[in-house]
Amino acid sequence: MKFFIDTADVAEIREAQSFGLLDGVTTNPSLIARTGRKFRDVIEEICEIVDGPISAEAVSLDFEGMRKEAKELAAIHENIVVKLPLTLDGLKTVRWCSDNGIATNVTLCFSPLQALMAAKAGADYISPFVGRLDDVGHDGMELISQIIEIYGNYNFDTEVLVASIRSPTHVLEAARMGADVCTIPFNVIQKLVHHPLTDQGIEKFLEDWKKVPH
Ligand code: E4P
Repeated sequence: MKFFIDTADVAEIREAQSFGLLDGVTTNPSLIARTGRKFRDVIEEICEIVDGPISAEAVSLDFEGMRKEAKELAAIHENIVVKLPLTLDGLKTVRWCSDNGIATNVTLCFSPLQALMAAKAGADYISPFVGRLDDVGHDGMELISQIIEIYGNYNFDTEVLVASIRSPTHVLEAARMGADVCTIPFNVIQKLVHHPLTDQGIEKFLEDWKKVPH
């Protein structure tokens, strides 16, 4: 399973990159806004840090506007993946991008039928938002299971990118289901390695090591 980081904070991206576990980055307009920096500056810097797919989101809602943005975003760097919303105009743009060699990530997916539509349009990635579904009393991971089943039935190449991850449990379940990618906030990446028994074990080993004659 590939690990992407879900942030536009370059300090977090640099640190996660230093762990040697990072395969890519996803951003969205809210994450970019949080940096207080210009969109293009942030995206260019991320492309310098990580050599992997970097999702940058278009903000137009109509086909012509999204197509224009897709071309501009793709021109920034060869690793750019254009993030497009799950609307009819978004899917039309996905098809155009797919026909023109531009990689796409279809975002704001909340149903298996939406995911099927994105795959049929030729999306490279589908981003189902599990945390936001959990937030409204639905089962986000059940959506992932349904999408994996449907994509498997028809051998779609679209990669399932689990998004809106809130906890290590989401990552665990995604891995057990065989999701292609998890895009994970920095604080959750840190939590993935922590275990109290590991900490206790280190402490005990170091304590005992002091008793070994040198
Ligand atoms: C996906 O690519 C989005 O950036 C992200 O996962 C949304 O997560 P949120 O629900 O925590 O905002």
